[in-house]
Amino acid sequence: MIVVDDLHKHFGGFHAVDGASLRIEKGSITGLIGPNGAGKTTLFNVIAGVLSPTSGRVTMEGEDITGLPPHALFHKGLLRTFQIAHEFSSMTCRENLMMVPPGQSGETLWNTWFGRKRIADEERALRAKADEVLEFLTISHLADHKAGQVSGGQKKLLELGRTMMVDARIVFLDEVGAGVNRTLLNTIGDAIQRLNRERGYTFVVIEHDMDFIERLCDPVICMAEGKVLAEGTLAEIKANEEVIEAYLGTGLKNKDKLEAGA
Ligand SMILES: Nc1ncnc2c1ncn2[C@@H]1O[C@H](COP(=O)(O)OP(=O)(O)O)[C@@H](O)[C@H]1O
Ligand SMILES: [Mg+2]
Repeated sequence: MIVVDDLHKHFGGFHAVDGASLRIEKGSITGLIGPNGAGKTTLFNVIAGVLSPTSGRVTMEGEDITGLPPHALFHKGLLRTFQIAHEFSSMTCRENLMMVPPGQSGETLWNTWFGRKRIADEERALRAKADEVLEFLTISHLADHKAGQVSGGQKKLLELGRTMMVDARIVFLDEVGAGVNRTLLNTIGDAIQRLNRERGYTFVVIEHDMDFIERLCDPVICMAEGKVLAEGTLAEIKANEEVIEAYLGTGLKNKDKLEAGA
């Protein structure tokens, strides 16, 4: 579905992504792991159009999407989740979801004057969809809570929920598990699996929690120093000498991360 070919992203003289090549298969939940500073987030940002690459190519189903801005990728169904922006934290969870779909009729002055009925119909449909998404994510009880007041894990669910308000096809998740308790992490994992199986979403997931990766991801791709080191099942990755060395090279803390959940 996505092919990344010899991608480079340099910050001054520093090569954050340094010739990364990989393929994301349609229908997969692909894990992306690697020690801190490996270039995972930068790679995501380049694929998702947040950063433009220094060189290299990204294609989606054969079409060159290199350097396309996020909104153009959004229309192709390629989404990268973002933290709920500060401005939206005083809106309710339901309102946060209702904000997502682009091109609502309510936006234009013409419609304000002449299309009241249509706006009301659309808003009702949007609200119904938001409620469906909240239910899918098991957070219906938070519909009227302000987004800024729910827990970190619940916010992550809401971020995932935003991808369900549009016709997402491939979703990039960066450290969904960070700071999230085990129960909510399982709920997030369940939602990812169901979206994958029932709605055909392809996922690419960056995560340090190896239990989470093991449960959800096949294949797993390991990056270090801006390059792809290895790809395979998590068991294969963990047995790979280069991978072990890459984690060791960055200190014991990272090595423990690799072994956790083994
Ligand atoms: N905007 C930036 N300017 C300069 N250096 C950056 C920038 N973004 C990331 N880096 C550097 O690029 C390297 C890779 O970062 P990152 O992609 O965040 O790695 P990861 O997500 O794997 O931990 C790090 O050394 C980081 O400091
Ligand atoms: Mg990162």
